[in-house]
Amino acid sequence: MNSPQKQARFHYQDLGPASSNSRDEILAGLQETRKRISPKYFYDDTGSLLFEEITRQPEYYPTRTERRILSEHASDMATAIGTGTVLMEPGAGSCEKIRLLLDALKPAAYVPMDIAGEFLQRSASGLQREFPWLRIAALRADFAAMPSLPADLPAGPRTLFYPGSTLGNFSPLQATGFLRHAKRLVGTEGKLLIGIDLHKDRAILDRAYNDRAGVTARFNLNALEHLNRILPADFRTQQFQHLAFYNDTCQRIEMYLESRIEQTVIAAGKRIHFLAGERIHTEISCKYSLESFTALAAAAGLHVRECWRDGDSLFAVFLLSAGSC
Ligand code: AVJ
Repeated sequence: MNSPQKQARFHYQDLGPASSNSRDEILAGLQETRKRISPKYFYDDTGSLLFEEITRQPEYYPTRTERRILSEHASDMATAIGTGTVLMEPGAGSCEKIRLLLDALKPAAYVPMDIAGEFLQRSASGLQREFPWLRIAALRADFAAMPSLPADLPAGPRTLFYPGSTLGNFSPLQATGFLRHAKRLVGTEGKLLIGIDLHKDRAILDRAYNDRAGVTARFNLNALEHLNRILPADFRTQQFQHLAFYNDTCQRIEMYLESRIEQTVIAAGKRIHFLAGERIHTEISCKYSLESFTALAAAAGLHVRECWRDGDSLFAVFLLSAGSC
């Protein structure tokens, strides 16, 4: 049995359905002139494991670089943020990275959010065992659907933690919308701690999304297996190939699945025709400079208070605040 004290510290709440994996949304994307699917379809169980495997590839520097920044600068971050904050994390998943900050930051509460409710519940209760003093209020919620938070969250200044350069999956316009929503949630006294992958030599970027072991390729192709299951559809993954490259003009990685042959796929009863070499766009991963990210934040009414980087300026963790400087 849990002690009553421990039970009082751990809460789980379901904020209702995530925006559905809508068949219509997927089909509409596949029927456009430039075929596309949302990167959220990468993340079925296999895809989540493949992403974790990507983070262990020697070419994929972002995860390990960000972890190093977080652990090296945890106490500076705590000083800048202040202890006793209510720490929210959209897409918290495994609640891994927050561990690096908890001892220094001593938040009043930690509010991890994720659409994968069971996974979140499991990782949040694992975290609770490791940090028995921490008050945790786990929320199953689709942050992308911009939910309002329950009224009974602990009081105190709020901080939103958004690591991993996940923001890079949004176009700058979508990212501004996300930041505006985040700003509303943290309020005028609130802060945002955001991990951003930086603009750099394109060879390093191209390698990070084309690892030699082929894990990123499997990750990309797995989205088709996922569609096969949920639509259903009859994509043959061996008839598509992974394509990822840095687009210098847009300062972003673009990922595609390219049809190796002319073929017709049946997806949710519809015939989807592919010419040989035709692509499905699956992901963008935008890269920023200090200047371009500062401008993006400003467009959302946020100010850069601090910025911590690794020695090679591969990755940055920004502290943003809503209030004027
Ligand atoms: C999880 C969105 C940060 O863009 O680097 C990794 C996903 N895609 N390799 C990224 C990803 C291909 C990753 N993010």
